[in-house]
Amino acid sequence: MRRRAAPIEPRRLMAEAEDARRAAYAPYSRFRVGAALLAEDGRVFRGCNVENASYGLTVCAERVALWKAVSEGARRFAALAVAGSAGRAAPPCGACRQALAELAPDLTIYFRDAGGRTVRRALRVLLPHAFRYPAPSRRRRKG
Ligand code: THU
Repeated sequence: MRRRAAPIEPRRLMAEAEDARRAAYAPYSRFRVGAALLAEDGRVFRGCNVENASYGLTVCAERVALWKAVSEGARRFAALAVAGSAGRAAPPCGACRQALAELAPDLTIYFRDAGGRTVRRALRVLLPHAFRYPAPSRRRRKG
């Protein structure tokens, strides 16, 4: 079993998100975003937004961090920090909230408001009533 995360300061996690933001590929919106996802075993997974000429293929920084984490075997998460452009609020979008709720319903999220202050919110507060697929054993068979 992996060890639990040593407590990491929100400020340090936000610094990781800011660093991740430097890699953002956002030639269309020019809105660069970085994310840092803290796994319970102490690993920090970084992500940045990756845009595409076919706009709908763009992936947000938060989901890039989550996909990276899951593909490296992490399944339990403690906190996420999101860094956007200075002076612009950068709360995670609804799609990212749903993606995060899949594996980390108890996640704590740090993001900046328009004044540059770090806001701390529980994912459960940002996304009440997240969709959950019924467990297969509970699903009714049809026909
Ligand atoms: N974006 C993120 O990376 N995270 C969010 O939570 C919201 C939006 C990105 C997607 C796109 O590249 C740009 O910001 C503008 O929407």
